Amino acid sequence: MGLILGIETSCDETAAAVVDDGTTVRSSIVATQHDLHERYAGVVPEIASRAHLERILPVVEEALDQAGATLGELDAVAVGHAPGLIGSLLVGVSAAKAMAWSLGIPLLGVHHLLAHLHAPYLDADELAFPALGLIASGGHTVLVRMDDALNVTRLGGTIDDAVGEAFDKAATVLGAGYPGGPAIERMALEGDDHAVELPIANLGGDSLDVSYAGLKTALLYATRGIPVGRGREARFPRTVDDLTHAQRADLAASFQRCAVAALIRAAERALEREDFETISCGGGVIANSVLRSELERLARETGTTLRLGQMKYCVDNAAMIAGLGHVMLERGVTAPLTLTPRARLPFEAARA
Ligand code: KG4
Ligand code: ZN
Repeated sequence: MGLILGIETSCDETAAAVVDDGTTVRSSIVATQHDLHERYAGVVPEIASRAHLERILPVVEEALDQAGATLGELDAVAVGHAPGLIGSLLVGVSAAKAMAWSLGIPLLGVHHLLAHLHAPYLDADELAFPALGLIASGGHTVLVRMDDALNVTRLGGTIDDAVGEAFDKAATVLGAGYPGGPAIERMALEGDDHAVELPIANLGGDSLDVSYAGLKTALLYATRGIPVGRGREARFPRTVDDLTHAQRADLAASFQRCAVAALIRAAERALEREDFETISCGGGVIANSVLRSELERLARETGTTLRLGQMKYCVDNAAMIAGLGHVMLERGVTAPLTLTPRARLPFEAARA
């Protein structure tokens, strides 16, 4: 009872995967839409859902093909049904329902964020619980306590922008390109990360929350100067083009250091407060090498096991959906064919 087709369409990647027993990835296909959203420097929901519609069937076919699996061999269909862009989620959920109904196999409605935390278990060993879970992506920045894969409690997270969103905005301010995270990381390589003083918001002595609004504004002002004039008349004294290559690199490196430090401080506080066996991480920002090495340092210093998923499983993908779907299937947590997508869904709703 272990061959599961996963489908993921919550944002701007159309993905399908076939996973065996919740961990062995037989195929993982991701059709990215970066080229469609690049000129808007962000995901346009209507464009995303239309692109999902065009790509979903070829992507599912390719996932089955690469896995060498037939429809008849599938034991269940798992779909990321929440949270996400509603028009995008609808495409994946509709496709998954149609397949589960026509094949007469169970449908599994998977929480996208919990699936991110399943990434370190794909093509790897089981996780030891309790785990401190960190999701750092373009849409979410959350710290959780995981008593197991489905029983998860929110401990803290961003009160405004997600960390990936902050990287994307920083890239726009510095003219670094899209998607912003990798572009800022590349630019930062040549910079001095202490060259510019930027704020790391402190939301109270023991808060596990983070905030990126202040850091983002501070970067904008450090790049373009303090605006002159008031209201609509306000003008920045310079543009990013007035800065040298080296100045931009210093700004990127300083921003990156502060963005990472905020996350590490929150994780450190969580580890001081409760005992955890493992730190389990997921989300696109986990690709960031500064964040990875700071997490490694934190794990070493606290005697915790750090589990970072392989990069291809950290960014949005369907293998993580199929993987967590397997846990749900084992516990009998199947969804009715009336499953509806949800733009928001608390972790507690997935408890089983
Ligand atoms: O998990 P993901 O693929 O999609 C969401 O569910 O949001 O995460 C995408 C985010 C983007 O904001 C991107 O800029 C960021 O992850 N990202 C990075 C890096 N690679 C991707 N941020 C910082 N450094 C990176 N190397
Ligand atoms: Zn995601």
